[in-house]
Amino acid sequence: MEAEAKVMAAPVTTISDLSKHDGQAVTIRGWLYNMRESGKLLFPIFRDGTGLVQGVVVKNKVAPEVWDALKGLTQESSVIATGGVRADQRAPGGFEMDITAVEVIQRVPDDEPYPISPKEHGVDFLMEHRHLWVRSQRQAAILRVRAAIIKAARDFYDNNGFTLTDPPILTPAACEGTSTLFPVNYFEDEAFLTQSGQLYIEATAMALGKVYSFGPTFRAEKSKTRRHLTEFWMVEPEVAYAELDDIMKLAEDFIAYIVKYVLANRRADLVTIGRDIEKLEKIDAPFPRISYDDAVKMLHEGFEKGELENKFEYGNDFGSPDETYISAKFDRPLMVHRYPAVVKAFYMEPDPKDPTKALCVDVLAPEGYGEIIGGSQRVGSYDLLLKRVREHNLPEEAFKWYLDLRKFGGVPHAGFGMGIERAVAWICGLEHVRETIPFARMLHRMYP
Ligand code: 4AD
Ligand code: MG
Repeated sequence: MEAEAKVMAAPVTTISDLSKHDGQAVTIRGWLYNMRESGKLLFPIFRDGTGLVQGVVVKNKVAPEVWDALKGLTQESSVIATGGVRADQRAPGGFEMDITAVEVIQRVPDDEPYPISPKEHGVDFLMEHRHLWVRSQRQAAILRVRAAIIKAARDFYDNNGFTLTDPPILTPAACEGTSTLFPVNYFEDEAFLTQSGQLYIEATAMALGKVYSFGPTFRAEKSKTRRHLTEFWMVEPEVAYAELDDIMKLAEDFIAYIVKYVLANRRADLVTIGRDIEKLEKIDAPFPRISYDDAVKMLHEGFEKGELENKFEYGNDFGSPDETYISAKFDRPLMVHRYPAVVKAFYMEPDPKDPTKALCVDVLAPEGYGEIIGGSQRVGSYDLLLKRVREHNLPEEAFKWYLDLRKFGGVPHAGFGMGIERAVAWICGLEHVRETIPFARMLHRMYP
């Protein structure tokens, strides 16, 4: 009862706010992260999602029930702890707490300890325990950076005259090609999970001028690479009366804004993750721009110098090793434009100067992270679009509404999509996209 009364008396705060309470008694609510015991001293480390703080417990200075509750307390047991906040230069967050009361909310059983210990675990084990792994300091830091990237993306468009318009997730047809569609049994019919909101926001762009969407997208990718998820989140702006150059400018301003926002607001998390921050500080618009043809020249030179194993075949789309090679030559994201039309999506406008090329752009992140943005100017002509739909064996009926957009006040328009997870991987400096999303969905992973 007495301990409970003390818990009630001190104001509840978070570990990140302890600096506001130096010299006062406060209550924090969290989990036991770790415990060091040394004779008549206990040093419990608590975490609450905002940070870590070390508590100090001296046996003959605390009530016996406080000592008994904490001594031998198992890792990740949930606890509410009260104590005096004391500045300490040596402490990780700059403060320690002299614990005076604790309440154990749920004790992790002694015979079934928390499965993730500070010792090394393999990635498969950690992914299998992703529901618990997200509690680790590094994973929590990545999730905070992800949230900051999403907020920056939304702020950027909200503050620049764009209207958020949410496209449907259940769709009657493909956007990015039929080979990676997830079918869904939609009553008696077949529907698909969306691959991109683009086609729908082309419609809302004709209603509102500048629009964007942000939502989950799905690709039944059979590829098992470090850059592919089957479910990922995409931010897509679409602009009426815009051409390729306009959205290339938009893309570089957008990325530069996000990086600056993360540096300003999540620097400590980047440090926890171990990111080389200097590399991010170099990111600013404008970004270098090269044509597909010039990028191929770089690949051919690389092959001649023996830096690349295989000679790139002109006319193909770039694979991951090609993107890695090209983008590693720059310290900023690189914009590669005008790919051969045949390797790109059906909706891309041909370049009037060379109709075999598409008016499109891929933004490749530096340090070998590869494509983070894909975009283009859209086909303007009704006849050409209909021809493309037929050439790609797309169901004409399902695209009737999309073709209408070229009949009823069509205008030049363009847009792009940025995969949030690719951006998080680059900004956090992560090997694999599986750590960029709370619960990754991949070719061989549906659990947890
Ligand atoms: O290049 P993509 O396929 O372009 C589109 O979907 C366009 N409709 C976007 C538009 O113009 N509005 O995909 C765009 C971005 C890629 O650059 C990449 O960042 C991400 O989406 N992406 C993936 N991220 C994770 N896993 C996958 N399987 C991804 N596929 C694409
Ligand atoms: Mg692409």
